Amino acid sequence: MAIQIKDLDQLKVMRRAGLLVGQTLQVMRENIKAGMTTDALDAIAAANIKRGGGTSNFLGYHGYPKTICVSINDEIVHGIPGPRIINDGDVVSIDCGAIIDGWHGDAAFSIGIGTVDPADQKLMDVCEESMWAGIAAGKNGGRLSDIGHAIEQYVNSQGKYGILQEYGGHGIGTEMHQEPHVLNFGKAGNGPEIIPGLALAIEPMITRGTHKTKVLADDWTVVTNDKSRGAHFENSYVICPDGKPFVLTAIDGGKSELSRFGVEISDLLA
Ligand code: MF3
Ligand code: CO
Repeated sequence: MAIQIKDLDQLKVMRRAGLLVGQTLQVMRENIKAGMTTDALDAIAAANIKRGGGTSNFLGYHGYPKTICVSINDEIVHGIPGPRIINDGDVVSIDCGAIIDGWHGDAAFSIGIGTVDPADQKLMDVCEESMWAGIAAGKNGGRLSDIGHAIEQYVNSQGKYGILQEYGGHGIGTEMHQEPHVLNFGKAGNGPEIIPGLALAIEPMITRGTHKTKVLADDWTVVTNDKSRGAHFENSYVICPDGKPFVLTAIDGGKSELSRFGVEISDLLA
């Protein structure tokens, strides 16, 4: 399928879906603690999406059984909630999506529980900042690979980290996963032009060791081959008709984070 370009009315609905995802992740941040199960988090997310008038896009996606993904320590993405207990010192990545009136949002964050190893905290901070650097670099009139280039440059400037290669960001709209695929590395200046109406989920996945991963026997959970810990941050953003970006899954539209890069957000979706 070709890249889907959204008009302002469609983006307004996407913003509602994105905001519900952002708010649901905020509730996750406020409620996650050592001693709870990953299933308990899933239940909170499901209730919040329902309360906000949305439905889950993860539930039933290629048979996926839950509302969110919860990936702990050497699990990077696609961990399935269950009876597992979250422990002090864990690095937990939570990925969530929702649909409102047919339009999708998708976002994720990683968080350290209780007493966190400073090297794990740095891993998460580097991953989060690389996501913002990628979004800031994905400007109107640029090229798609500018995003992955910025992500990789930032990550490599901060130390030795593995950047996952088999997974990346994606277009998002009336499906969760659309063209184009967005690599988290590469040279700048290649690929499709970034134009108004292009909506992308930007999601760096990095590790303290290898970039190499495998999928567990549950057919979903992606773990590092060397057991090193990983982090995952994701936001869905769009270039608005005025040529300025707006982060659909950020409560403030990305205003505060993108301003650090000298990038002004659109007020068309405020
Ligand atoms: N949200 C993931 C992504 O960022 C996809 C999760 S698919 C699921 O692309 F089935 F695991 F939910
Ligand atoms: Co995604």
